[in-house]
Amino acid sequence: MGLHLLQAQLLVAILFVFASTSVSTSGNFPLAKQNCVDRCGNVSIPFPFGTTEYCYLNRSFFVTCNETYHPPKAFLQNTSIEITNISLKGQLRLLQFIAKDCYSQNGTKVFYNNPWIYLPVYLTVNNTSNKFTVVGCDTYAFVYGRRINRNYQIGCTAMCDYEDDLTDGSCSGLGCCQTSIPEDVWRVEVRLKSYENYKKVWNFNNCSYGFLVEESAFRFSPRNLSSLRNVEKLSMVVDWAIGNGTCEEARKNMSSYACKSTNSQCYKPDNGYGYRCLCSEGYQGNPYLPYGCQDIDECKDPSLNKCEKHCENTVGSYQCVCPKGYHGDGKKDGKGCIRGQSLVFKLVTGIALGIIVLMLAACWLYFELKRRKLVRMKHKFFLQNGGLLLQEKLTRRDTSPDMARIFNSAELKKATNNFHDSRIIGQGGFGTVYKGFLSDNRIVSIKKSKQVNPNQVEQFINEVIVLSQINHRNVVRLLGCCLDTKVPLLVYEFINNGTLFEHINNKTKARALSWDKRLTVAAEAAGVLAYLHSAASPPIIHRDVKSANILLDASFTAKVSDFGASRLVPLDRTQLSTMVQGTFGYLDPEYMQTHQLTEKSDVYSFGVVLVELLTGKKALSYDRPEEEINLASYFLSTLKQNQLFQVLDDNIVCEENNKELILVSMLAKRCLYVRGEDRPSMKKVAMELEGLSLSKKHSKMPTEPNAPEMESLLGEKFNVFSNGEGNSTSIGYDSTRDHFFLPSSGGR
Ligand SMILES: *[C@@H]1O[C@H](CO)[C@@H](O)[C@H](O)[C@H]1NC(C)=O
Ligand SMILES: *[C@@H]1O[C@H](CO)[C@@H](O)[C@H](O)[C@H]1NC(C)=O
Ligand SMILES: *[C@@H]1O[C@H](CO)[C@@H](O)[C@H](O)[C@H]1NC(C)=O
Ligand SMILES: *[C@@H]1O[C@H](CO)[C@@H](O)[C@H](O)[C@H]1NC(C)=O
Ligand SMILES: *[C@@H]1O[C@H](CO)[C@@H](O)[C@H](O)[C@H]1NC(C)=O
Ligand SMILES: *[C@@H]1O[C@H](CO)[C@@H](O)[C@H](O)[C@H]1NC(C)=O
Ligand SMILES: *[C@@H]1O[C@H](CO)[C@@H](O)[C@H](O)[C@H]1NC(C)=O
Ligand SMILES: *[C@@H]1O[C@H](CO)[C@@H](O)[C@H](O)[C@H]1NC(C)=O
Ligand SMILES: *[C@@H]1O[C@H](CO)[C@@H](O)[C@H](O)[C@H]1NC(C)=O
Ligand SMILES: *[C@@H]1O[C@H](CO)[C@@H](O)[C@H](O)[C@H]1NC(C)=O
Ligand SMILES: *[C@@H]1O[C@H](CO)[C@@H](O)[C@H](O)[C@H]1NC(C)=O
Ligand SMILES: *[C@@H]1O[C@H](CO)[C@@H](O)[C@H](O)[C@H]1NC(C)=O
Repeated sequence: MGLHLLQAQLLVAILFVFASTSVSTSGNFPLAKQNCVDRCGNVSIPFPFGTTEYCYLNRSFFVTCNETYHPPKAFLQNTSIEITNISLKGQLRLLQFIAKDCYSQNGTKVFYNNPWIYLPVYLTVNNTSNKFTVVGCDTYAFVYGRRINRNYQIGCTAMCDYEDDLTDGSCSGLGCCQTSIPEDVWRVEVRLKSYENYKKVWNFNNCSYGFLVEESAFRFSPRNLSSLRNVEKLSMVVDWAIGNGTCEEARKNMSSYACKSTNSQCYKPDNGYGYRCLCSEGYQGNPYLPYGCQDIDECKDPSLNKCEKHCENTVGSYQCVCPKGYHGDGKKDGKGCIRGQSLVFKLVTGIALGIIVLMLAACWLYFELKRRKLVRMKHKFFLQNGGLLLQEKLTRRDTSPDMARIFNSAELKKATNNFHDSRIIGQGGFGTVYKGFLSDNRIVSIKKSKQVNPNQVEQFINEVIVLSQINHRNVVRLLGCCLDTKVPLLVYEFINNGTLFEHINNKTKARALSWDKRLTVAAEAAGVLAYLHSAASPPIIHRDVKSANILLDASFTAKVSDFGASRLVPLDRTQLSTMVQGTFGYLDPEYMQTHQLTEKSDVYSFGVVLVELLTGKKALSYDRPEEEINLASYFLSTLKQNQLFQVLDDNIVCEENNKELILVSMLAKRCLYVRGEDRPSMKKVAMELEGLSLSKKHSKMPTEPNAPEMESLLGEKFNVFSNGEGNSTSIGYDSTRDHFFLPSSGGR
């Protein structure tokens, strides 16, 4: 039994292979049985239809192929009904006679026919595709006959009075009438009638026409009133089905069940008796043949699959496959392939991410270490630069709000555009001076020493300490310092008009620097030095008094700067043994010899500055003849030779101030005495210059009774501003100009 079945299956399989290879037809799958003709002229003849006994399912599906025509014509069974198309979906097209009814001008019928068609039991007229159509201008017509188990009759009237009432494509009663028919119709007859036998419309229409026609095959046009006369047949769609039972009934007798193919299904048609067969989804072919339904390769036809990338055909269906590196459904739902969800991709991205994270961490570590090193270095510099010492000193002294503060390096870097060359305003042996703009809009000059050695650090701290104690309008104010850099930085207020040295030695500037201005500058500078010597506590010796260290602001107010060489002189000592420091040309010869620093050293240097002011010459210049190289000695020798006016600056010499020039020259001479003891004190120098400067101002106001003072000044008996107690204990500078009083340590 089992063997038997196996043999049968084998046979079927062999048959199928043979059939599919030998009978290959339109659409790549076999339509007819093996060794059967599947085509008659232009009409394909699929099984269950066939032209010979073996080839059709039963006699009902017999098709006559009359080959005397070219191309051959197919006819239904042994009738004269021509078939033009057979579809496996259950339809076929027939050509059917049209009914005509024609009249002569006097109203007599000249021609008519009443065509009819009886369809075999397995065929019914398709009620959706066909329409009963009547054409004519004086007609009414009926279609009638049999549906399953009953009769039917439908009428339609087409009328018109004028030819121009008719419109193309419109079939709604004017010259053309169309109506549906019911389902299950198998017998059709058409009868035409006329109301007035075309007497009224005969001149443009003398026939009426009626027919069941495939709706899409007929489109009304007014010309059809006459052109249809020459048409014999029009096509009509009929439905076909197998048997007269339902699918369930048919399946009871498998040997007569028509859906022979695997992957085929049975379904009930909309129309008529019986059942039909259909290939399952994903298959195509002829379901009525064994193995007739074949797999569709959906991948070959893009309209059949929704795959984005690669399509893989499967039996009865297809799969959307994603290429390598892609993953996902990529499927019929159109979700698509998603790049790289594959294990390899995940692994690769994971490793890459890991590396990136590691690198970031390494970078962070590197910069963090670098930052810490920088912080450590800054701290080291801070300590090295005496930061603690300074901090301690600053805090120990009663700190006032405008006292020096400690800047940080970043602040100053920003202020000087990272110490850009364009910001340099001065350069010398001491280092470099930059112009800087602080974030609070203050303009400052920032002094950066050239190199550091422990001695200089001490000197530097010294300057900070000294300057932080001085708050005088004629001293360049120290705003603060910066210690967390390799080289300590000092931040001063910015004095915008250059040094006295420049003003003396630049020809145009020297011309503008009048005697009055020079006198004022000298008085102011002397005042500061006097203050440093006697007023500040402990006293301060500047040690580097020179014209280059006296700055001028816009109103030519003197600002003494560069206290780098200053030393605080302890109160109990008047002399201090130190290394010789200062600038040649200004150096006190006694100090050079003895290394004994006294306040008189500053007096000597100031004397040189006075000579500079008087002569407009440099303190030391190798451009001059040998005896003139040192300005101080040259000046003294000219004085001795009574040739003062030859050496004085032409810019200041005039009749009115001869006396003053002589007085100041004499003062300078006294300052330059070789023996420090012989030199006047700075306070005395300051008072004399101040007196001269003041009297000059007063003399310009004729009402002021200052002549006696002038006299006493000329007699070198200087006692202005005595507070009336004889031996004055305090000396007041003009309080309208200077806002402080100096405690006196007693004139010498
Ligand atoms: C039949 O097919 C031929 C060629 O395939 C074509 O020229 C001819 O018009 C067709 N005839 C009909 C009636 O479809
Ligand atoms: C084919 O058609 C011709 C002409 O219509 C007819 O004479 C002949 O008998 C037909 N042959 C068959 C087999 O029906
Ligand atoms: C057509 O075939 C039927 C039987 O199927 C037969 O009764 C009928 O006489 C035949 N008619 C012609 C014209 O051959
Ligand atoms: C038959 O009808 C079907 C469906 O209307 C159509 O696709 C096919 O081309 C037709 N075949 C011929 C030969 O006219
Ligand atoms: C009907 O009219 C057409 C022209 O429209 C003419 O050729 C034909 O002979 C007429 N028929 C009769 C019966 O008068
Ligand atoms: C009507 O006309 C036809 C020819 O067109 C003619 O044979 C017939 O006798 C006419 N009848 C009458 C009543 O005139
Ligand atoms: C044709 O018949 C079906 C029932 O078989 C019906 O549902 C459908 O409406 C009919 N179509 C027309 C155009 O009458
Ligand atoms: C109806 O008239 C149009 C236009 O002249 C023509 O193309 C068409 O073939 C006619 N219809 C029939 C069935 O003769
Ligand atoms: C042929 O098939 C039709 C419809 O399936 C059926 O009604 C008829 O009885 C069958 N005739 C024969 C001889 O099998
Ligand atoms: C189907 O056809 C057979 C004869 O071919 C008949 O005996 C039977 O009654 C029919 N069934 C129906 C539902 O029409
Ligand atoms: C099944 O159908 C075949 C052929 O159509 C027939 O010979 C047989 O008697 C049927 N069997 C039954 C049980 O109806
Ligand atoms: C009529 O034909 C159409 C296709 O042309 C088909 O879809 C339909 O099922 C057929 N039958 C009926 C009753 O509509």
